[in-house]
Amino acid sequence: MQYYSASSPISQIRANNFLFEFDQCIDELFPSHPFDSGISIDNFERVISEYLAMSISFPYIQAGAIYNNYRLTIDENNDINKNVEITSAIGSFLVFDEFGCYAQTQKFGNDGLRNLTNVGHNFHSNLLRRDIETLLGKRVKPVWSDVTNAYLSDLLAALSDQKLNRNIAYMIAFENHANRMIMSLWNAIHLLFNFPKDSKLSYFYGHVGGESPAEAFHVEMTQRMIEDLVPEVDVSQFISSCIKEYTANISWCERILSLSNSDKRIQKDA
Ligand SMILES: [Fe+2]
Repeated sequence: MQYYSASSPISQIRANNFLFEFDQCIDELFPSHPFDSGISIDNFERVISEYLAMSISFPYIQAGAIYNNYRLTIDENNDINKNVEITSAIGSFLVFDEFGCYAQTQKFGNDGLRNLTNVGHNFHSNLLRRDIETLLGKRVKPVWSDVTNAYLSDLLAALSDQKLNRNIAYMIAFENHANRMIMSLWNAIHLLFNFPKDSKLSYFYGHVGGESPAEAFHVEMTQRMIEDLVPEVDVSQFISSCIKEYTANISWCERILSLSNSDKRIQKDA
């Protein structure tokens, strides 16, 4: 089994170039996101129900991946390595953030810790539920279709796999894609519902709106991992790996769009 350690890690300058190069590759390969033109009033509810399922699942999967990566390492009689430590530090921050705990401690310092049990208000997935209710005038149930379940299983497998730093490639691709996907979704909502891009849609505003959108920092934070863990000689292989993992995210979006459109066709034919 091949593991990467930081024997000759990529320098900060090269890492910045990497980030730039990766972004450029994505722009070239995927000049638009499937949600840019694929969302309509007819399919919105189904698409957003699948998206909600992903949003609910993500922090639990990320937390599980931290455990899996640790477990697989010690099961092979290896000591904890830098990949386990760094991906756990970043991954646990992402979990803390998704559960709304980071926002509470940012706003209120230690006093915010008293609010962590206020999960209905804090969890990002619950912010999303409320935004959906604002848009559709009703609550929707999350839908874990076979397509979304398969995507989430692959997500867990990838985030748990440190061989060739696959977990890092996936984290980078996932965050980069999340930034673009949420932006596309927000643009679509703005057009479909004629809803202003303001703080009333708190899930979207918190992630990609305002002056300091959180998602952009997540992208940078996860990308910093390459400085410590990706050997200089393997940069081109690593960029291919990030592109492959990014493609898996795009493909999930395409597949839930196609599910949602065929749902609508069946309803119309009935
Ligand atoms: Fe989030």
